[in-house]
Amino acid sequence: MYNSIQLADDIFWLGVNDRKTHLFENLWPLDNGVSYNSYIIVDEKIALIDTVEKSKIDEYLNRIHDIIGERKIDYLIINHMEPDHSGGISEILKENPDIKIVGNKMTFVLLRGLYNINTNHFLITDGDTINLGKHQLKFIITPWLHWPETMMTYEETEEVLFTGDAFGSFGTLNGGVFDDELNMDFYIDEMRRYYSNIVAKYSKMVIKALDKLKGIKLKYIASTHGPVWRSQIDWVLKLYQDWATYKAEKGVVIVYGSMYGNTEQMADIIARRLSVRGIRDIKIYDASRKHLSYILSEIWHYRGILIGSSAYNGGIFPPVENITRKLEDIEIKDRLLGTFGSSGWNKAGVKGLNKWAQSMDWELVANSPETRGAPEKNSIAMCIELADAMADRLNEMYPDK
Ligand SMILES: Cc1cc2nc3c(=O)[nH]c(=O)nc-3n(C[C@H](O)[C@H](O)[C@H](O)COP(=O)(O)O)c2cc1C
Ligand SMILES: [Fe+2]
Ligand SMILES: [Fe+2]
Repeated sequence: MYNSIQLADDIFWLGVNDRKTHLFENLWPLDNGVSYNSYIIVDEKIALIDTVEKSKIDEYLNRIHDIIGERKIDYLIINHMEPDHSGGISEILKENPDIKIVGNKMTFVLLRGLYNINTNHFLITDGDTINLGKHQLKFIITPWLHWPETMMTYEETEEVLFTGDAFGSFGTLNGGVFDDELNMDFYIDEMRRYYSNIVAKYSKMVIKALDKLKGIKLKYIASTHGPVWRSQIDWVLKLYQDWATYKAEKGVVIVYGSMYGNTEQMADIIARRLSVRGIRDIKIYDASRKHLSYILSEIWHYRGILIGSSAYNGGIFPPVENITRKLEDIEIKDRLLGTFGSSGWNKAGVKGLNKWAQSMDWELVANSPETRGAPEKNSIAMCIELADAMADRLNEMYPDK
């Protein structure tokens, strides 16, 4: 018998923890695991909201039976079709042959494609409602958070918003489920990493969704990953608004790629000067070592970005180039940029970085220090100039910090 975890009257959390999978989407490190959250509303009619990843199906079905016994589920609401949430649909359908699978047009395109399920479809459009007895569900179509079919489901009686991936976080839920039960510093970092890795590309759609939610009373934000929010609703809405509009804190992320330590030395020279100039949050990452996932999260966190690269076969050092391509892809805006690097003969690293910089439309704070081999007098002076220019801009932008 599992402990059932109740959100509100008749509404239960049905999340499972995945501590086994190494990479989310076979791409993003799950160093702290991840939870897949599903929810169930037990009323005259029973509604299940999303399912979980396939590997957790036995635990999941047992948990459902503990709550509803042999009763059948009337509705399966699909807010998102990605397999980390849709992995249980086939089993749920098998156990509940008369279930209505609730989704929008695009949901069913994906349901057919991924699972070849052509029956039990219950089509809804934006604003439609379903009455369960005491509880009423309203559907809010919010595409591209983070696939084309994504939507949210609002439970009107208890004011619970089931948001799918939006407001989600990496990290398993280790006992605590609600924001006030958890040390949220950890989850904010994991939530920002989730945002920058998974959602960031669709920041414009996040703003559209947040606009659509304005005026809706919210007591709970129940995402498909990580904590359920009930104590800091306004705060988390504001956090998402800030991330989606590229707000950032005072601080500098220095990312470099360096084979023999020349470019790395420049990073340290720049960092020291930034510190002398009063910058407290300075993060340095070796792009060969630190996974892109964490670097993206830090770039989402801080305003100042310094990218260094040695020249490598006529271009940018590959792990650094990978980061630049990803930044281009997610279209992050409003950062202060500086570039630097070392080469043997043709400055190919810095040249490549500066070509990329043009496509980003970020403010370039100073000329790029470039050195042949180890940093010498002239390039050291340029590193100091670059750090000074970055510190000046940050001190102007954040005068009180
Ligand atoms: C595999 C390899 C490829 C390189 N390609 C270039 C190049 O295309 N252009 C250039 O100017 N230097 C090139 N170099 C030289 C390095 O960029 C140079 O030694 C630089 O100082 C290394 O800086 P680092 O210690 O930060 O890696 C290459 C070096 C290696 C090992
Ligand atoms: Fe997703
Ligand atoms: Fe997800």
